[in-house]
Amino acid sequence: MSQSITVPLLDLKAQYGPLRDEIVAAMTEVVEAQWFIMGPNVKELETQVAEYCHAKHAIGCASGSDALLLALMGIGIEPGDEVICPSYTFFATAGSIHRLGAKPVFVDINPTTYNMDLELVREAASRCSRLKAIIPVHLFGQSVDMTAYNQLGADLGVPVIEDAAQAIGSIDNNGIRAGSTGTVGCFSFFPSKNLGGFGDGGIMTTNDDVLAERLGILRLHGGKPKYYHHVVGINSRLDALQAVILSIKLKHLDDWHAARLRNAERYNNMFEAAGSKTSSTPLSEGGFPLRTPEGVSEPGRHIYNQYCIRVPEAIRNQLRDHLKDQGVGTEIYYPVPLHEQACFESLGYKLGDLPESESAARETIALPIYPELTEEQQNHVASTICKFVEQHAPAKV
Ligand SMILES: Cc1ncc(COP(=O)(O)O)c(C=O)c1O
Repeated sequence: MSQSITVPLLDLKAQYGPLRDEIVAAMTEVVEAQWFIMGPNVKELETQVAEYCHAKHAIGCASGSDALLLALMGIGIEPGDEVICPSYTFFATAGSIHRLGAKPVFVDINPTTYNMDLELVREAASRCSRLKAIIPVHLFGQSVDMTAYNQLGADLGVPVIEDAAQAIGSIDNNGIRAGSTGTVGCFSFFPSKNLGGFGDGGIMTTNDDVLAERLGILRLHGGKPKYYHHVVGINSRLDALQAVILSIKLKHLDDWHAARLRNAERYNNMFEAAGSKTSSTPLSEGGFPLRTPEGVSEPGRHIYNQYCIRVPEAIRNQLRDHLKDQGVGTEIYYPVPLHEQACFESLGYKLGDLPESESAARETIALPIYPELTEEQQNHVASTICKFVEQHAPAKV
Protein backbone atom coordinates (compact mmCIF):
# COMPACT_ATOMS: atom_id res chain seq x y z
CA MET A 1 0.00 0.00 0.00
CA SER A 2 1.54 3.29 -1.05
CA GLN A 3 0.19 6.06 1.12
CA SER A 4 2.17 9.20 0.51
CA ILE A 5 -0.90 11.46 0.67
CA THR A 6 -3.40 11.34 3.48
CA VAL A 7 -6.69 13.20 3.37
CA PRO A 8 -8.76 13.25 6.56
CA LEU A 9 -12.47 13.86 6.27
CA LEU A 10 -11.97 17.08 8.21
CA ASP A 11 -8.81 18.84 9.39
CA LEU A 12 -9.72 21.20 12.20
CA LYS A 13 -6.07 21.70 13.15
CA ALA A 14 -5.49 23.35 9.77
CA GLN A 15 -8.26 25.83 10.54
CA TYR A 16 -7.09 26.43 14.11
CA GLY A 17 -3.41 27.08 13.28
CA PRO A 18 -3.75 30.58 11.80
CA LEU A 19 -6.34 31.63 14.43
CA ARG A 20 -4.56 30.18 17.45
CA ASP A 21 -3.16 33.42 18.94
CA GLU A 22 -6.42 35.32 18.59
CA ILE A 23 -8.49 32.48 20.00
CA VAL A 24 -6.18 31.78 22.93
CA ALA A 25 -6.15 35.50 23.83
CA ALA A 26 -9.95 35.68 23.72
CA MET A 27 -10.31 32.50 25.77
CA THR A 28 -7.82 33.84 28.30
CA GLU A 29 -9.90 36.99 28.71
CA VAL A 30 -12.96 34.88 29.49
CA VAL A 31 -10.99 32.84 31.99
CA GLU A 32 -9.71 36.01 33.65
CA ALA A 33 -13.23 37.47 33.79
CA GLN A 34 -14.58 34.15 35.20
CA TRP A 35 -17.96 34.78 33.52
CA PHE A 36 -18.55 31.49 31.77
CA ILE A 37 -22.25 31.13 31.04
CA MET A 38 -24.32 33.53 28.90
CA GLY A 39 -23.26 37.17 29.56
CA PRO A 40 -21.91 39.89 27.24
CA ASN A 41 -19.88 37.60 24.97
CA VAL A 42 -22.92 35.46 24.25
CA LYS A 43 -25.02 38.59 23.64
CA GLU A 44 -22.40 39.87 21.20
CA LEU A 45 -22.37 36.60 19.27
CA GLU A 46 -26.17 36.64 19.13
CA THR A 47 -26.09 40.11 17.58
CA GLN A 48 -23.44 39.05 15.06
CA VAL A 49 -25.26 35.86 14.06
CA ALA A 50 -28.61 37.65 13.69
CA GLU A 51 -26.94 40.12 11.35
CA TYR A 52 -25.11 37.40 9.42
CA CYS A 53 -28.31 35.39 9.00
CA HIS A 54 -30.42 38.44 8.08
CA ALA A 55 -32.73 37.75 11.02
CA LYS A 56 -34.06 40.14 13.66
CA HIS A 57 -33.12 38.00 16.66
CA ALA A 58 -30.67 35.22 17.48
CA ILE A 59 -30.91 33.27 20.73
CA GLY A 60 -27.98 31.09 21.76
CA CYS A 61 -28.47 27.66 23.28
CA ALA A 62 -26.49 24.54 24.11
CA SER A 63 -26.69 22.65 20.77
CA GLY A 64 -28.44 22.38 17.44
CA SER A 65 -30.54 19.57 18.90
CA ASP A 66 -31.70 21.90 21.68
CA ALA A 67 -32.38 24.65 19.13
CA LEU A 68 -34.88 22.31 17.44
CA LEU A 69 -36.40 21.21 20.74
CA LEU A 70 -36.74 24.79 22.00
CA ALA A 71 -38.20 25.95 18.67
CA LEU A 72 -40.88 23.25 18.89
CA MET A 73 -41.55 24.11 22.55
CA GLY A 74 -41.69 27.78 21.58
CA ILE A 75 -44.44 27.23 19.02
CA GLY A 76 -46.37 25.10 21.50
CA ILE A 77 -46.00 21.56 20.14
CA GLU A 78 -47.90 19.16 22.38
CA PRO A 79 -48.20 15.38 22.81
CA GLY A 80 -50.11 13.85 19.91
CA ASP A 81 -49.35 16.69 17.47
CA GLU A 82 -47.95 15.85 14.05
CA VAL A 83 -44.81 17.47 12.64
CA ILE A 84 -43.59 16.81 9.09
CA CYS A 85 -39.87 16.30 8.53
CA PRO A 86 -37.57 14.36 6.22
CA SER A 87 -36.42 10.85 7.03
CA TYR A 88 -33.03 11.35 5.36
CA THR A 89 -31.44 13.64 7.98
CA PHE A 90 -29.58 13.64 11.27
CA PHE A 91 -31.50 12.01 14.11
CA ALA A 92 -32.10 15.26 16.05
CA THR A 93 -34.59 16.54 13.46
CA ALA A 94 -37.11 13.88 14.42
CA GLY A 95 -35.77 13.20 17.93
CA SER A 96 -36.83 16.69 18.98
CA ILE A 97 -40.40 16.02 17.80
CA HIS A 98 -40.56 12.70 19.59
CA ARG A 99 -39.19 14.13 22.84
CA LEU A 100 -42.25 16.38 23.10
CA GLY A 101 -44.57 13.42 22.66
CA ALA A 102 -45.44 14.55 19.16
CA LYS A 103 -45.35 12.37 16.05
CA PRO A 104 -42.82 12.79 13.26
CA VAL A 105 -44.47 12.38 9.84
CA PHE A 106 -41.67 11.38 7.51
CA VAL A 107 -41.57 12.63 3.94
CA ASP A 108 -39.29 11.48 1.12
CA ILE A 109 -36.54 13.55 -0.50
CA ASN A 110 -36.00 14.87 -3.98
CA PRO A 111 -33.01 12.82 -5.20
CA THR A 112 -31.44 15.80 -6.98
CA THR A 113 -31.09 17.98 -3.87
CA TYR A 114 -31.45 15.33 -1.12
CA ASN A 115 -33.86 17.78 0.52
CA MET A 116 -37.47 17.04 1.43
CA ASP A 117 -39.74 17.10 -1.62
CA LEU A 118 -42.25 19.94 -1.33
CA GLU A 119 -45.01 18.23 -3.30
CA LEU A 120 -44.72 15.16 -1.09
CA VAL A 121 -44.97 17.42 1.96
CA ARG A 122 -48.22 18.81 0.57
CA GLU A 123 -49.56 15.26 0.05
CA ALA A 124 -48.47 14.14 3.54
CA ALA A 125 -50.07 17.24 5.07
CA SER A 126 -53.39 16.36 3.44
CA ARG A 127 -53.35 13.03 5.31
CA CYS A 128 -52.60 14.65 8.72
CA SER A 129 -55.29 15.49 11.24
CA ARG A 130 -53.13 17.28 13.84
CA LEU A 131 -50.37 18.84 11.79
CA LYS A 132 -48.70 21.61 13.81
CA ALA A 133 -45.40 22.33 12.02
CA ILE A 134 -43.12 21.50 9.11
CA ILE A 135 -39.36 21.10 9.52
CA PRO A 136 -37.46 21.30 6.23
CA VAL A 137 -33.75 20.48 6.63
CA HIS A 138 -31.20 22.39 4.53
CA LEU A 139 -29.25 19.19 4.12
CA PHE A 140 -25.50 19.16 3.49
CA GLY A 141 -25.57 23.00 3.36
CA GLN A 142 -28.06 23.38 0.51
CA SER A 143 -31.18 25.39 1.31
CA VAL A 144 -34.68 24.34 0.39
CA ASP A 145 -36.75 26.90 -1.53
CA MET A 146 -37.94 28.95 1.46
CA THR A 147 -40.45 31.01 -0.54
CA ALA A 148 -42.25 27.81 -1.48
CA TYR A 149 -42.03 26.37 2.04
CA ASN A 150 -43.25 29.58 3.69
CA GLN A 151 -46.15 29.69 1.24
CA LEU A 152 -47.01 26.07 2.00
CA GLY A 153 -46.79 26.78 5.74
CA ALA A 154 -49.15 29.74 5.28
CA ASP A 155 -51.56 27.63 3.17
CA LEU A 156 -51.63 24.97 5.87
CA GLY A 157 -51.63 27.45 8.74
CA VAL A 158 -48.55 25.96 10.41
CA PRO A 159 -45.10 27.38 11.25
CA VAL A 160 -42.01 26.40 9.27
CA ILE A 161 -39.06 25.51 11.49
CA GLU A 162 -35.83 25.51 9.50
CA ASP A 163 -33.33 22.83 10.49
CA ALA A 164 -30.35 24.87 9.38
CA ALA A 165 -27.86 22.96 11.53
CA GLN A 166 -25.68 22.32 8.46
CA ALA A 167 -26.47 25.55 6.67
CA ILE A 168 -25.33 28.79 8.29
CA GLY A 169 -24.85 31.24 5.41
CA SER A 170 -26.55 29.01 2.87
CA ILE A 171 -28.70 30.92 0.36
CA ASP A 172 -31.59 29.46 -1.61
CA ASN A 173 -32.23 29.86 -5.34
CA ASN A 174 -34.17 33.08 -4.77
CA GLY A 175 -31.47 34.68 -2.62
CA ILE A 176 -33.00 33.91 0.79
CA ARG A 177 -30.60 33.13 3.63
CA ALA A 178 -31.12 30.09 5.82
CA GLY A 179 -32.79 31.16 9.04
CA SER A 180 -33.98 34.53 7.74
CA THR A 181 -37.62 33.80 6.87
CA GLY A 182 -38.80 30.65 8.66
CA THR A 183 -40.66 30.94 11.97
CA VAL A 184 -37.45 29.77 13.69
CA GLY A 185 -34.07 28.87 12.17
CA CYS A 186 -32.11 26.26 14.14
CA PHE A 187 -28.31 26.18 13.86
CA SER A 188 -25.61 23.94 15.29
CA PHE A 189 -22.08 24.93 16.28
CA PHE A 190 -20.90 21.31 16.56
CA PRO A 191 -17.15 21.37 15.77
CA SER A 192 -17.54 19.77 12.33
CA LYS A 193 -20.00 22.40 11.10
CA ASN A 194 -18.82 25.21 8.79
CA LEU A 195 -18.99 27.44 11.88
CA GLY A 196 -17.94 25.10 14.68
CA GLY A 197 -17.06 25.74 18.31
CA PHE A 198 -14.76 23.88 20.69
CA GLY A 199 -17.65 21.80 21.97
CA ASP A 200 -21.42 21.82 21.67
CA GLY A 201 -23.40 24.96 20.91
CA GLY A 202 -26.38 26.16 18.96
CA ILE A 203 -28.49 29.19 18.11
CA MET A 204 -32.03 30.01 17.01
CA THR A 205 -33.01 32.86 14.72
CA THR A 206 -36.42 34.46 14.37
CA ASN A 207 -38.05 37.71 13.24
CA ASP A 208 -40.87 37.36 15.76
CA ASP A 209 -40.31 39.55 18.84
CA VAL A 210 -42.69 37.59 21.08
CA LEU A 211 -41.27 34.23 20.07
CA ALA A 212 -37.69 35.50 20.53
CA GLU A 213 -38.52 36.49 24.10
CA ARG A 214 -40.19 33.12 24.71
CA LEU A 215 -37.22 31.16 23.33
CA GLY A 216 -34.88 33.20 25.53
CA ILE A 217 -36.93 32.23 28.58
CA LEU A 218 -37.38 28.57 27.62
CA ARG A 219 -33.62 28.03 27.35
CA LEU A 220 -33.28 29.17 31.00
CA HIS A 221 -35.70 26.66 32.51
CA GLY A 222 -38.61 28.96 31.67
CA GLY A 223 -37.80 31.38 34.48
CA LYS A 224 -38.66 35.08 34.02
CA PRO A 225 -37.79 36.85 36.18
CA LYS A 226 -35.18 34.41 37.44
CA TYR A 227 -36.70 31.82 39.79
CA TYR A 228 -40.29 32.70 38.77
CA HIS A 229 -41.71 30.18 36.28
CA HIS A 230 -44.83 30.57 34.19
CA VAL A 231 -43.59 27.87 31.81
CA VAL A 232 -41.32 24.85 32.11
CA GLY A 233 -38.22 25.19 30.00
CA ILE A 234 -34.90 23.37 29.81
CA ASN A 235 -31.31 24.10 30.73
CA SER A 236 -29.77 25.06 27.41
CA ARG A 237 -27.27 27.86 27.85
CA LEU A 238 -24.46 28.85 25.52
CA ASP A 239 -21.14 29.48 27.22
CA ALA A 240 -18.85 32.45 26.89
CA LEU A 241 -15.84 30.42 25.73
CA GLN A 242 -17.82 29.09 22.77
CA ALA A 243 -19.15 32.58 22.07
CA VAL A 244 -15.73 34.24 21.78
CA ILE A 245 -14.37 31.40 19.64
CA LEU A 246 -17.38 31.53 17.34
CA SER A 247 -17.20 35.34 17.06
CA ILE A 248 -13.61 35.06 15.83
CA LYS A 249 -14.44 32.27 13.40
CA LEU A 250 -17.53 34.06 12.05
CA LYS A 251 -15.27 36.72 10.49
CA HIS A 252 -13.74 34.01 8.29
CA LEU A 253 -16.89 32.10 7.48
CA ASP A 254 -17.56 33.57 4.04
CA ASP A 255 -13.97 32.86 2.95
CA TRP A 256 -14.32 29.28 4.19
CA HIS A 257 -17.61 28.89 2.33
CA ALA A 258 -15.89 30.17 -0.84
CA ALA A 259 -13.05 27.68 -0.41
CA ARG A 260 -15.51 24.80 0.05
CA LEU A 261 -17.34 25.89 -3.10
CA ARG A 262 -14.05 26.01 -5.01
CA ASN A 263 -13.24 22.51 -3.75
CA ALA A 264 -16.67 21.25 -4.78
CA GLU A 265 -16.15 22.67 -8.25
CA ARG A 266 -12.73 21.04 -8.49
CA TYR A 267 -14.21 17.65 -7.57
CA ASN A 268 -17.06 18.21 -10.02
CA ASN A 269 -14.58 18.85 -12.82
CA MET A 270 -12.40 15.89 -11.89
CA PHE A 271 -15.37 13.50 -11.81
CA GLU A 272 -16.95 14.98 -14.91
CA ALA A 273 -13.70 14.32 -16.81
CA ALA A 274 -14.24 10.63 -15.95
CA GLY A 275 -17.81 10.78 -17.28
CA SER A 276 -19.88 11.45 -14.17
CA LYS A 277 -23.18 13.33 -14.23
CA THR A 278 -24.92 15.32 -11.52
CA SER A 279 -27.49 14.02 -9.05
CA SER A 280 -30.34 15.07 -11.37
CA THR A 281 -29.56 11.99 -13.50
CA PRO A 282 -30.41 8.73 -11.69
CA LEU A 283 -27.63 6.14 -11.57
CA SER A 284 -29.99 3.78 -13.39
CA GLU A 285 -29.70 5.92 -16.52
CA GLY A 286 -26.23 4.53 -17.03
CA GLY A 287 -22.94 6.08 -18.11
CA PHE A 288 -20.10 6.40 -15.60
CA PRO A 289 -21.79 5.28 -12.36
CA LEU A 290 -20.98 8.26 -10.18
CA ARG A 291 -23.15 11.29 -9.46
CA THR A 292 -21.94 14.64 -8.10
CA PRO A 293 -24.12 17.13 -6.20
CA GLU A 294 -26.27 19.25 -8.48
CA GLY A 295 -25.27 22.47 -6.68
CA VAL A 296 -27.09 25.80 -6.91
CA SER A 297 -26.62 28.80 -9.14
CA GLU A 298 -26.57 32.49 -8.25
CA PRO A 299 -28.03 34.12 -6.28
CA GLY A 300 -28.04 30.83 -4.35
CA ARG A 301 -25.10 29.51 -2.34
CA HIS A 302 -24.48 25.91 -1.31
CA ILE A 303 -22.09 25.98 1.65
CA TYR A 304 -21.02 22.33 1.26
CA ASN A 305 -21.01 21.31 4.89
CA GLN A 306 -20.86 17.95 3.16
CA TYR A 307 -19.94 17.02 -0.40
CA CYS A 308 -21.66 13.72 -1.15
CA ILE A 309 -21.27 11.65 -4.27
CA ARG A 310 -23.46 8.76 -5.24
CA VAL A 311 -22.28 5.36 -6.49
CA PRO A 312 -24.06 2.01 -6.93
CA GLU A 313 -25.01 0.34 -3.66
CA ALA A 314 -23.05 -2.78 -4.64
CA ILE A 315 -19.73 -0.92 -4.40
CA ARG A 316 -20.38 1.92 -1.94
CA ASN A 317 -19.05 0.27 1.21
CA GLN A 318 -16.10 -1.35 -0.58
CA LEU A 319 -15.22 2.02 -2.07
CA ARG A 320 -15.23 3.47 1.43
CA ASP A 321 -12.92 0.72 2.70
CA HIS A 322 -10.62 1.20 -0.28
CA LEU A 323 -10.44 4.95 0.32
CA LYS A 324 -9.55 4.29 3.95
CA ASP A 325 -6.69 2.03 2.79
CA GLN A 326 -5.53 4.87 0.56
CA GLY A 327 -5.50 7.33 3.46
CA VAL A 328 -8.79 9.05 2.62
CA GLY A 329 -11.41 9.70 5.31
CA THR A 330 -15.08 9.54 4.34
CA GLU A 331 -18.44 9.29 6.10
CA ILE A 332 -21.87 7.94 5.34
CA TYR A 333 -24.57 10.54 5.97
CA TYR A 334 -26.85 8.68 6.81
CA PRO A 335 -26.77 4.89 6.60
CA VAL A 336 -30.25 4.34 8.08
CA PRO A 337 -33.09 6.74 7.25
CA LEU A 338 -35.13 7.71 10.28
CA HIS A 339 -38.30 5.86 9.27
CA GLU A 340 -36.22 2.65 9.42
CA GLN A 341 -34.80 3.33 12.89
CA ALA A 342 -35.72 0.79 15.56
CA CYS A 343 -36.91 3.50 17.96
CA PHE A 344 -39.54 4.63 15.44
CA GLU A 345 -40.83 1.14 14.67
CA SER A 346 -44.13 1.91 16.39
CA LEU A 347 -44.83 4.59 13.78
CA GLY A 348 -45.49 1.76 11.35
CA TYR A 349 -43.28 2.61 8.38
CA LYS A 350 -41.93 -0.24 6.27
CA LEU A 351 -39.12 -0.67 3.80
CA GLY A 352 -40.11 0.85 0.47
CA ASP A 353 -42.27 3.61 1.97
CA LEU A 354 -39.70 6.33 1.25
CA PRO A 355 -37.70 4.90 -1.65
CA GLU A 356 -35.53 7.96 -2.42
CA SER A 357 -34.41 8.27 1.21
CA GLU A 358 -33.67 4.56 1.28
CA SER A 359 -31.55 4.55 -1.86
CA ALA A 360 -29.69 7.75 -0.89
CA ALA A 361 -28.80 6.06 2.40
CA ARG A 362 -27.35 3.11 0.47
CA GLU A 363 -25.58 5.00 -2.31
CA THR A 364 -24.10 8.25 -0.99
CA ILE A 365 -20.67 8.82 0.49
CA ALA A 366 -19.28 12.10 1.83
CA LEU A 367 -15.78 13.17 0.77
CA PRO A 368 -13.32 15.58 2.40
CA ILE A 369 -14.35 19.12 1.41
CA TYR A 370 -12.87 21.31 4.18
CA PRO A 371 -11.50 24.70 3.08
CA GLU A 372 -7.79 23.95 3.55
CA LEU A 373 -7.85 20.88 1.27
CA THR A 374 -5.18 21.11 -1.45
CA GLU A 375 -5.63 20.38 -5.13
CA GLU A 376 -3.10 17.55 -4.78
CA GLN A 377 -5.19 15.97 -2.02
CA GLN A 378 -8.34 16.31 -4.11
CA ASN A 379 -6.60 14.73 -7.10
CA HIS A 380 -5.66 11.79 -4.92
CA VAL A 381 -9.25 11.39 -3.69
CA ALA A 382 -10.85 11.75 -7.12
CA SER A 383 -8.39 9.54 -9.00
CA THR A 384 -8.61 6.81 -6.33
CA ILE A 385 -12.41 6.88 -6.61
CA CYS A 386 -12.53 6.95 -10.41
CA LYS A 387 -10.12 4.02 -10.72
CA PHE A 388 -12.05 1.97 -8.21
CA VAL A 389 -15.43 2.72 -9.78
CA GLU A 390 -14.14 1.84 -13.26
CA GLN A 391 -12.79 -1.49 -12.05
CA HIS A 392 -15.58 -2.55 -9.71
CA ALA A 393 -18.85 -1.02 -10.85
CA PRO A 394 -21.54 -3.59 -11.65
CA ALA A 395 -22.55 -3.87 -15.32
CA LYS A 396 -26.07 -2.78 -14.45
CA VAL A 397 -27.28 -0.61 -11.56
C1 LIG B 1 -29.46 18.28 10.19
C2 LIG B 1 -29.05 18.38 11.63
N1 LIG B 1 -29.97 18.68 12.55
C3 LIG B 1 -29.65 18.82 13.84
C4 LIG B 1 -28.37 18.62 14.29
C5 LIG B 1 -28.08 18.69 15.76
O1 LIG B 1 -27.07 19.58 16.10
P1 LIG B 1 -26.14 19.31 17.37
O2 LIG B 1 -25.22 18.20 17.05
O3 LIG B 1 -25.45 20.62 17.58
O4 LIG B 1 -27.05 18.99 18.50
C6 LIG B 1 -27.36 18.32 13.37
C7 LIG B 1 -25.97 18.11 13.82
O5 LIG B 1 -25.28 17.23 13.44
C8 LIG B 1 -27.72 18.17 12.00
O6 LIG B 1 -26.79 17.87 11.09
